[in-house]
Amino acid sequence: MKNQSETMFESAFAEDTYKGLTQDPKYLLSKYIYDKNGDLLFQRIMNMPEYYLTSCEFDILEKNKKDIAASFKDESGFDLIELGAGDGKKTKVLLKEFVAQKFNFNYLPVDISANVLEGLEESVKKEIPEVNIKVQQGTYFNTLEKLAEYNTRKKVILVLGSNIGNLSHPQAVGFLKNIAQAMSKNDMLFMGFDQKKDPQKILNAYSDKQGITEQFNKNILVRINRELGGNFEPDNFMHWETYNPETGTAKSYLVSKKDQKVEIRNLNLKVSFSTWETIHTEISQKYDDSIVNWLAEEAGLTVEHAFTDQENCYKNYIFKSK
Ligand code: AVJ
Repeated sequence: MKNQSETMFESAFAEDTYKGLTQDPKYLLSKYIYDKNGDLLFQRIMNMPEYYLTSCEFDILEKNKKDIAASFKDESGFDLIELGAGDGKKTKVLLKEFVAQKFNFNYLPVDISANVLEGLEESVKKEIPEVNIKVQQGTYFNTLEKLAEYNTRKKVILVLGSNIGNLSHPQAVGFLKNIAQAMSKNDMLFMGFDQKKDPQKILNAYSDKQGITEQFNKNILVRINRELGGNFEPDNFMHWETYNPETGTAKSYLVSKKDQKVEIRNLNLKVSFSTWETIHTEISQKYDDSIVNWLAEEAGLTVEHAFTDQENCYKNYIFKSK
């Protein structure tokens, strides 16, 4: 039997959009930014000089690949499961090292975007043909259930890019708990966390002058227009970024530049915006060791090691289950 919400809404996107735009203050969920166009815009963000996260993490992996490989190594080999794999640019640093050391491993990237996975599979097969790759399309949530099935040998779960930063602390604890539950004693979680730093540097990373981040943020309006029959005028909103150095939370908003009404046909919804009214679209949480230790503790994990750069701009932590 279908529940009420399934009969009322055509998709989770429709339902979440309805909820967010009928709430006060209004919000939309950042995971819906990533359609085909959103994936491309995020690729462009990762290539911007202001978006330091990608190059910081790339350098950490490149500098520490020998030590990282040593910590992943296991007599019977291992399954490398990557959540939110994206284009795999950073992961390939590790894959190449594992191949050079003739490790016995499978690479199992998971991503919500089938499109992204297709590109990833093709490029890995071309660039590092020795890698045994099997892609899986899905959300973190439904693949976490499948995770526990990989229990014949060591598994290493990889979450790069500070993807966890889109979650509030309670959501992050829930996510880590789910991973912890799927982990056996010998298993490892290797995860990237962007660190608290000069607030200006963080603001610049999320409000570039070229306006790529603005386009990325507004892509959620474009997607609502296309998929849900909306008539948002993206130009009637401005992209606004804030960073609170006390909490370490960067937040993205779309701010209405005028009094306006938007209609979303498939939701049977008319939404009014007053001038300077906000839609909250994304959080990008920044961390330090004490927050990461606390999250781990709450989730039943322990921090085994942290790899970082000279400025402690970014850190990759190794966790084990307790
Ligand atoms: C993919 C969640 C890590 O929050 O830094 C980049 C997404 N948003 N610029 C981040 C994003 C705006 C990104 N994550």
